[in-house]
Amino acid sequence: MFNKRTRFKLEGRGLVVTFLLVLAMSQHSFAQDSNEIERKVDSVLSLMTLKEKIGQLVLYNGSWDVTGPPSDVGNKEKYEKLKNGEVGAMLNVTSVKGAKELQEKVIENSRLKIPLMFGYDVIHGYKTMFPIPLAESASWDLDAIKKSAAIAAKEATAAGINWAFGPMVDISRDARWGRIMEGAGEDPYLGSKIAVARIQGFQGTDLASKETLAACAKHFAAYGFAEAGRDYNTVNIGEYELHNTVLPPFKAAADAGVATMMSAFNEVNGIPATAHKELQRDILKDTWKWDGFVVSDWASIMEMTFHGYSKDRVHAAEQAIIAGNDMDMEGRAYEIGLEKLVKEGKVDVKLIEDAAKRILRTKFRLGLFEDPYKYCDENREKNDIYTKAHLEASRDVAKKSIVLLKNENNVLPLKKELKSVAVIGALADDKDTPIGSWRGVAESNSAVSLLEGLKASLGKKTTINYAKGVAIGSGERSFIKALKINRDDVTGIKEAVAAAKKSELVILAIGEEAYQSGEARSQVSLSITAPQQKMFEAIYEVNKNIVVVLMNGRPLAIPTIAEKVPAIVETWHLGSESGNAIADVLTGAYNPSGKLPVSFPRHVGQMPLYYATKTTGRPSNPDGMVFWSHYTDEKNDALFPFGYGLSYTTFEYKDLVLSASSFGTGGKITATVTVTNTGDRKGKEVVQLYVRDLIGSLTRPIKELKGFEMIELNPKESKKVTFTIDEKMLQFYTPNKKWEAEAGDFKVFVGGNSVDVLESDFVFKK
Ligand code: BGC
Repeated sequence: MFNKRTRFKLEGRGLVVTFLLVLAMSQHSFAQDSNEIERKVDSVLSLMTLKEKIGQLVLYNGSWDVTGPPSDVGNKEKYEKLKNGEVGAMLNVTSVKGAKELQEKVIENSRLKIPLMFGYDVIHGYKTMFPIPLAESASWDLDAIKKSAAIAAKEATAAGINWAFGPMVDISRDARWGRIMEGAGEDPYLGSKIAVARIQGFQGTDLASKETLAACAKHFAAYGFAEAGRDYNTVNIGEYELHNTVLPPFKAAADAGVATMMSAFNEVNGIPATAHKELQRDILKDTWKWDGFVVSDWASIMEMTFHGYSKDRVHAAEQAIIAGNDMDMEGRAYEIGLEKLVKEGKVDVKLIEDAAKRILRTKFRLGLFEDPYKYCDENREKNDIYTKAHLEASRDVAKKSIVLLKNENNVLPLKKELKSVAVIGALADDKDTPIGSWRGVAESNSAVSLLEGLKASLGKKTTINYAKGVAIGSGERSFIKALKINRDDVTGIKEAVAAAKKSELVILAIGEEAYQSGEARSQVSLSITAPQQKMFEAIYEVNKNIVVVLMNGRPLAIPTIAEKVPAIVETWHLGSESGNAIADVLTGAYNPSGKLPVSFPRHVGQMPLYYATKTTGRPSNPDGMVFWSHYTDEKNDALFPFGYGLSYTTFEYKDLVLSASSFGTGGKITATVTVTNTGDRKGKEVVQLYVRDLIGSLTRPIKELKGFEMIELNPKESKKVTFTIDEKMLQFYTPNKKWEAEAGDFKVFVGGNSVDVLESDFVFKK
């Protein structure tokens, strides 16, 4: 309810206030009526001065958290601006008390009392941490993903937040880029489905609910294509790759009604994304008819001066607002420049009004005008965050995110009669790394470690010989400072070898610490550190019965380890319940079902690596000559391909049958495959459909994911899985500058990953 104290104060303030109040009170019943909201937005706008309109376009950082280099505005000045109605939103305010205090400054002092939005990086949970987004994407379980976003929203809104800076929907095919951990991997189809699931989880069916918040699809666009995988670096991308690979998840987000989008730090073909008119105004707003607002990334408007694109902040403000960037995050460019630019006739006030309207519209949709304090409920803050139910949900999606990469001789699940196991690696006893990067307000060291998880599930019969082995990083773990990597200290190896020697089996936890991936954590190497590699080799000398548990935020290149050990389990950074979830899989309490959302390379030199590649003019070497597209020192393909993941049971794919060998416009055919569980355990399988357009007006990828379905089969059970293939599925962005399907021959593939597939063909006629 609208806070009584505030309403009393409002009532004393004349016509404008009464008008806003009436608008606000009538808001709820018409929450879904967009015409009504538009009417209200226009009415509010008509009352606003230019300064107030610009004020809505300003987003300031609170002092609760810092996620970028802070601007030069001090708290005192910020507070004055809040009181004057010159701020539209705050970020990094992470408590009800904080949000209330700032909201009060606006509601009790400003002329029009336009409520603030409160944004935060709710990336994989708020306090209950879920698997990092890349990991969670490996579940291919859209319901579980949606649920985790919904819980994150429930927790964040209980702490005063009503705007999540997520999901990150950037496609990335370069594991050197640290932010690959934050997305859904390499594929635009899977990425689009996951983007929508996350948005639906965050926003729910009613944005005005107290438990949902506005989502933000980011970073528009092509941020994941940074040259050489170096964060913030230049992006040069062809028009067709932009449309066919990068933009689809953003389009899916727009169609799903995502409330906001964030522009990217990078330039796109010479123009900073922040001021990219074609992207923001032409494609996003005009062509897609999306009516939310675009927020800049942290100071990215101001940073256009460093890009060498803007003379100064005023110039940057001009370029960004013209391009369609609606809100300025911590850049101080709009507040400094826009009024002047309008007065000089350089910026049409209509552009500022359009931006302000988009922001007001979002605030109405959130129901903030009705009750600016609706997310400021101390009871919810006490009761709705980090609950038992949320932790259980986290464990559930965490176990579903684990990918079994290798399991020779059924080393896994662990045998019940196992008497001793060596658990080795600093990561095994690490309660912090599983929380991952972008960890909201999670407490440091709050995750269940692998060692804890194993102790709880193995029971007394199995002796655990733990050895830390070599350290990975040292010094303070921090989001804002670089990690110090241990490159040469191998003193822990002796102790690790001793533990391995006296145990039947070794569980070796290796990989990366939490802050080795994430923003500004690009790496030139995808190998594990040299001390970890040495430790592995020393252990292997004395005990070959090794289960490698990988913990990492990006695909790693581990070719020698992969060849030697009998079992590998990819566990990423799994969040609060990591150790329990890993133990669920290692012991067989859960039969692994995850599939890689991104290719795992043999070597960093393969980057960028992805399955939906083109054939090139020289795809093979029939005459044994060197003149074909390959490396002379490594294979071309992935060590573990996209879509790959094993189970403790086995699945057989048979009889791919198409309902017809051709179809035309308006028509469709089906592709049906029979999948049988040929093992002796119940298990889940993600059945994947890929299509190839053989000849196109543009060269086409050798395979593109176009559908998937998760099935669960009992031992010996078979199921027919049917996919519908229609014209829409065959469309791509063509030289006619539109999405269309071209007539011709197609191949269709169905399988349990992007490589091992059954295939058939059909013709599409126009
Ligand atoms: C990141 C964004 C994030 C913002 C606010 C930036 O550095 O690129 O993804 O939402 O900070 O924390």
